[in-house]
Amino acid sequence: MHTKKRYLMVCTNEREEGHPKGSCARCGSVNVYDRFKQLVDEKELKEKARVLESSCLDLCADGPIVCVMPDNIWYSGVRVEDVEEIVDSHLGHGEPVERLLVPEEPAGLSLS
Ligand code: FES
Repeated sequence: MHTKKRYLMVCTNEREEGHPKGSCARCGSVNVYDRFKQLVDEKELKEKARVLESSCLDLCADGPIVCVMPDNIWYSGVRVEDVEEIVDSHLGHGEPVERLLVPEEPAGLSLS
């Protein structure tokens, strides 16, 4: 039985420098992941959400990519300074941060 309300996945995939696809780790996603872990702990949200590292989520050009399940909410271009807003609004109150949502038809992602 699942005990968490949400699972937040941060892509920390890394490709070599100059790879045409790029990668989230080369865009700072490891620091984003660390900040999520730190804030979920500090704000005592561990009962509500678990932060996980993920391999590639197929939206490499728009990284760092963060996905929140089971809400099926996807964030792109997430910076360390954006993390607290996601933690407070989405993980704390269930309200996604609109300004960081993946555009409606991102390349490589189809939910239909
Ligand atoms: S490397 Fe992060 S989505 Fe592909």
